[in-house]
Amino acid sequence: MQTIHVNTSTAYEVQIGQGLLTSAGEKIAALSHAKRVMIVSDDIVYPLYGETVTKSLAAAGFAPSSFVFQNGEERKRLSTIEALLEQMAAEHFSRSDLIVALGGGVVGDMAGFAASIFLRGIAYVQIPTTLLAAVDSSVGGKTAVDLSRGKNLCGAFHQPRLVLCDTDTLKTLKPINIEDGLAEMLKYGVICDADLFAKVKNYRNEDMEALIARCVEIKRDVVSGDEFDRGMRQLLNLGHTVGHAVEAASNFTLTHGHGVATGLAIIARAAEEKGMAKAGMAKEIEDALIACNLPTVTDFDPALLAELTLSDKKTDGDNINLIVPLAIGNTVIHRILKAEILDFIKAGM
Ligand code: GLY
Repeated sequence: MQTIHVNTSTAYEVQIGQGLLTSAGEKIAALSHAKRVMIVSDDIVYPLYGETVTKSLAAAGFAPSSFVFQNGEERKRLSTIEALLEQMAAEHFSRSDLIVALGGGVVGDMAGFAASIFLRGIAYVQIPTTLLAAVDSSVGGKTAVDLSRGKNLCGAFHQPRLVLCDTDTLKTLKPINIEDGLAEMLKYGVICDADLFAKVKNYRNEDMEALIARCVEIKRDVVSGDEFDRGMRQLLNLGHTVGHAVEAASNFTLTHGHGVATGLAIIARAAEEKGMAKAGMAKEIEDALIACNLPTVTDFDPALLAELTLSDKKTDGDNINLIVPLAIGNTVIHRILKAEILDFIKAGM
């Protein structure tokens, strides 16, 4: 097992290893005096792991209950949060009680957001069960729901008390969910670690636990320096600015990781086309994405992608911060005028 210490406004550990679900109760009891625990999960994950976590919590002396919603981004809405909060109030959850997020990114983002507002804030624990949630969304305290104008437009920063990544849960993932996680892992490599980039490309021959731990270390270092996303944390949006637009253009039929992969390829080609990046970098990124069975191109109209990019929350007045790779392992924040975004996207397509 690997343990990574995160030093944000709430300090916590990320534990990564096999068989952690069965000891979840014991581990949570070591840091919480909660009586009630609400397990928040979806209808794909809960049937697989809900019983194990419930038994483990009960054995550790907690009174667990559950809130299970339909799997999918469409449920990541305020209406689901309201139903969860109503259930917690009806079950007399108190400020010292706890939420456990058992699932992927949608579950973690929603459970964390509910924890940030129930009784003005209670504690929560992340138990990510997808590769994407393990390497990205479960760490760093970004919580949110979607609004009709875009993803994650309503949320809060609220750090978990503990993250338990049981690598056994990755065994039940479909290939597309593994690919989604690999897109985020390649992203970390492009941002600051060329060695990680090479290993993720060759992930079938690598120790996945070690790769996850390295990604979490990078995320830890970034969020510890900029918990509230005012500066260097924006680097973690590499591939996301245009990637979110591609996801939205597909009406979210394209998964997040596949959107990020496409966004990463577009921004890499644009950076090279504009003479900012090292020659050959875009091809290296495309080759790695293809090795992980991820997309590198899209047929959507560049004008539509530009419009959707500008309705994303990451704009600032007349400007938008683009996250631009200059070489594998070296990425910068590049501020451009909103009016220039179409030209950038066209250059990358
Ligand atoms: N997923 C990007 C961040 O946590 O900032």
